[in-house]
Amino acid sequence: MTDIYQTKSPFEGEKVRLRPLEKSDLDDIMKHWNTYESRVGLGTVIPMSTMMEEEFIQHSHEKAKSGKGFNFVIETLETKEFLGTCGIEDIMQENRSAVIGISIHNPKNHNKGYGTDATICLLKVGFMVLNFHRLELMVMDYNKRAIHVYEKIGFKEIGLKREAHFLQGKYHDVYIMDILAKEFEDLH
Ligand SMILES: CC(C)(COP(=O)(O)OP(=O)(O)OC[C@H]1O[C@@H](n2cnc3c(N)ncnc32)[C@H](O)[C@@H]1OP(=O)(O)O)[C@@H](O)C(=O)NCCC(=O)NCCS
Repeated sequence: MTDIYQTKSPFEGEKVRLRPLEKSDLDDIMKHWNTYESRVGLGTVIPMSTMMEEEFIQHSHEKAKSGKGFNFVIETLETKEFLGTCGIEDIMQENRSAVIGISIHNPKNHNKGYGTDATICLLKVGFMVLNFHRLELMVMDYNKRAIHVYEKIGFKEIGLKREAHFLQGKYHDVYIMDILAKEFEDLH
């Protein structure tokens, strides 16, 4: 039998750690949350106010308490620098299925391996702690970096919502991708 104390925390990767979202994270969130280059990847570019974010943190806290959703801060392992946020939402209990999301807020921190590492941590938490069977995400067709990261981790493209997203005067397709617990276990 594996000695559980010898196993690594699923909340810690090679570069990042996932930790709870706190009220005190508000200032760090507001620093880059409205940076267009990052928000365009998420699809929602309408700037968010401090009040909206405060409400989001409060709502996250309530959802975590009732097991309806889990949001985490992504921070660097060594210096605990705030990098962004990620979460598991839209939980369908009976199917053990949910939707994940991730954002590294400051574009200067993109392409440094943080997003890949944080997504792997989030999936470990989802599959090995919260016992999900399947995790899903949506990604805009133009978000090539995110698609590359998700495919590298093992997500499969399972559907396409045609012209489902409108931005900059144009409709864009939205991919749906998913990964099953056993697929993740085989790969990581
Ligand atoms: C998408 C996101 C989470 C990825 O995290 P990241 O830390 O930037 O990504 P990583 O450094 O871990 O990996 C980037 C990979 O994409 C590759 N990449 C970068 N730009 C690319 C592009 N235009 N096309 C294809 N691949 C690209 C890199 O070469 C690297 O691949 P490799 O590890 O095989 O060499 C991050 O960029 C982000 O938060 N973006 C803004 C919000 C967002 O789009 N969230 C996702 C919504 S679905």
